[in-house]
Amino acid sequence: MNHAAERAAERALILAPLGRDAQVAASILRDAELQSFICRDLAQLVDEIRRGAETAILTEESTRDAAVLGLTEWVAAQPPWSDFPFIVLTAHGGGLERNPGATELMEALGNVTFLERPFHPTTLVSIVKASLRGRQRQYECQNLNEELESRVRERTEELAATNRQLMSQIEERERVEETLRQMQRLEAVGQLTSGVAHDFNNLLTVVLGNLQFLERDLKAHGVDGKSMQRLSHMRIAAERGAKLTDQMLTFSRRQRLQPKTLDLNAVISGMRELLQSTIGGSVQIETQLAPDVWAAFADPTQLELAVLNLAINARDAMPVGGGLKVTTANVSLGQPLWPEDPPAGEYVQICVADKGAGMSDEVRRKAFEPFLTTKDVGKGSGLGLSQVLGFAKQSRGGVRIRTIPGEGTSVYIYLPRAEPASLQETAAAPAAQTHCVTRGGTILLVDDDRAVRDVTASMLRDLGYIVLEAGSGGASLDLADRERNIDLVILDFAMPGMNGVEVARQLRARRPNLPVLLITGFADRAAIEGVDPECILGKPFGTGVLGEKVKLALTRGAAQRLSHAPA
Ligand SMILES: Nc1ncnc2c1ncn2[C@@H]1O[C@H](COP(=O)(O)OP(=O)(O)OP(=O)(O)O)[C@@H](O)[C@H]1O
Ligand SMILES: [Mg+2]
Repeated sequence: MNHAAERAAERALILAPLGRDAQVAASILRDAELQSFICRDLAQLVDEIRRGAETAILTEESTRDAAVLGLTEWVAAQPPWSDFPFIVLTAHGGGLERNPGATELMEALGNVTFLERPFHPTTLVSIVKASLRGRQRQYECQNLNEELESRVRERTEELAATNRQLMSQIEERERVEETLRQMQRLEAVGQLTSGVAHDFNNLLTVVLGNLQFLERDLKAHGVDGKSMQRLSHMRIAAERGAKLTDQMLTFSRRQRLQPKTLDLNAVISGMRELLQSTIGGSVQIETQLAPDVWAAFADPTQLELAVLNLAINARDAMPVGGGLKVTTANVSLGQPLWPEDPPAGEYVQICVADKGAGMSDEVRRKAFEPFLTTKDVGKGSGLGLSQVLGFAKQSRGGVRIRTIPGEGTSVYIYLPRAEPASLQETAAAPAAQTHCVTRGGTILLVDDDRAVRDVTASMLRDLGYIVLEAGSGGASLDLADRERNIDLVILDFAMPGMNGVEVARQLRARRPNLPVLLITGFADRAAIEGVDPECILGKPFGTGVLGEKVKLALTRGAAQRLSHAPA
């Protein structure tokens, strides 16, 4: 309500239908510069109060009319801040103690001041002024109250907004913490996995190497086909073991990747036949390849393995046929939401989608963990998605899964968009020229694992080389000092004390042109980052690969010596 407007309209109503009381009162008020309005009857008084008045002067007898009900109803219905002041003119000698009607009236009207007639003009003026002031106070209180309420409302809204913000911050924080926990868990599992893979690679090198010798010896002795068959089963099992350790290494992101600039559409097109034969004739394969797909930067072999793993999973999820869709697309991603997500940036996306069984929440949450499988014993090792994730993350990308139980699963692999520079690099990289040296030579073999060293030495001797053995980095340095005619050093990377890279560094300091071949089952990527991939031999290996790598290293060593020789 507006104060100034109220003051302008400030007026007293008068109801005194009998005699000249009304005129007298009105003229007294006019003399005191107070506005008044004379009402005909109670009904008009109520109407005028509703229109706006600050007090009402009425004679006691005027309230005896039945219409007083309208007035008392209005009084009872006043808002909490309002207590309208009435001035009731009583008859001479009509004191309250002798007037039960007055008591009733007081109860019905609430804020009542009685004034006995005949009254002194000053008394009337002072009572009316007091009533007007009282009414103004009520208006002020109401205004203050409204202001207070609106402030409380504003503050409540502000508080609610702050609260909402806080809640969303808490949720965000919880999500980040959960993601972090998941990442730490995966990291811990990754370390464990790479440790296991490392040990198994050593064992498998021994097993596979010795199997090769046994097969050869048995053949030489003309032993029957059954034993040969058994050996072949053993070899197949060991080779499967080697594949598993390979996937474990990929999961722990310790795989040695050889990324290239790739046209993903070409990769997928090239895999069509392989995919179809893998998932069987009853599942239809559809491809949808983005025509302007960006070049990606990734290791092609690992990528094919990843797509194959996804296709196999899709096949297993669709036992009664269905559809498989492989698509490529260019995408720009925002901040990661899941531990598997790639960092924000531009990626080339490959999606393998099936209409199979989908995954439960429980399986979805743990799907990337190594060894999590819902498949029967012997059917799944739980390393497929681990390989996919490890490969994608190590390639600086990521993975996403969308799955609905009963409807199907889509797995998205995100690979970083290739920098234009890397395109040129790849184009400019000359094809490796390898001239095989056929003569034998002397090789210093350094490995702390006796069994691995034995079998490797046997393979090398078999290949026609002279082998010197050392069980540690220190021993190999001593040997290299004594033996001047060493043509090549083969070093195990993971050795206690000095690792292979350190030994190689010290050897190179003594004999700069001595070629070195590094054997590694798992490797701290950072430690071998700068090492030429041609100088690295992955465990487990057979005689064939070992022979190739040794020949290559010797050829390069010879070429280097020639180029450094004085003219
Ligand atoms: N496309 C899919 N549809 C439904 N469930 C899937 C799908 N892909 C994976 N899964 C679930 O996730 C689990 C883990 O998959 P992952 O590929 O890592 O291992 P696996 O297929 O069980 O074994 P492996 O791939 O080593 O042979 C599977 O056992 C399966 O329960
Ligand atoms: Mg799988």
